[in-house]
Amino acid sequence: MNQPSPSSPRILVIHGPNLNRLGQREPEIYGRTTLDEINGQLAALGAQLGLALDTFQSNHEGAIVDRIQQAADVYDGLIINAAAFTHTSIAIRDALAMLKAPVIEVHLSNIHRREPFRHTSLMAAVVTGQIVGLGSSGYRLALRALAEMIPAPVVVA
Ligand code: DQA
Repeated sequence: MNQPSPSSPRILVIHGPNLNRLGQREPEIYGRTTLDEINGQLAALGAQLGLALDTFQSNHEGAIVDRIQQAADVYDGLIINAAAFTHTSIAIRDALAMLKAPVIEVHLSNIHRREPFRHTSLMAAVVTGQIVGLGSSGYRLALRALAEMIPAPVVVA
């Protein structure tokens, strides 16, 4: 175990609209795991991987843009499920494009197997990679991917 310390890489996880309703919301599509459970699982894995984790959920496009802008130069990696804004928000896409840190886009469902309007992600061209269709484990896979991408901090004894 590699507990996070003040010098640990920092990861921000952003959850978009309606994801606060996970667990009750169309469970046949999104599963029964709640957002609190997903965040708890991520925090536990982050602790194992030596990553410091912050999470943020909003139903508001501008609030997500603000949070991404604040993340620049603060976080070493970002995980985002922009939910419905994935398919509509040029503003969130443009905010992500300003980040230098790696960004993983996650979707619980396989957006490519669903309605045609979900097949396009406006985020796709500005993110490092995507994980879709693997349910809540997709977030943990994204965190593991970031852990491999981000160089370990130099610890001065
Ligand atoms: C989603 C897929 C989106 O199309 C949808 O609007 C969501 C959730 C997913 O995680 O599968 O809210 O991003």
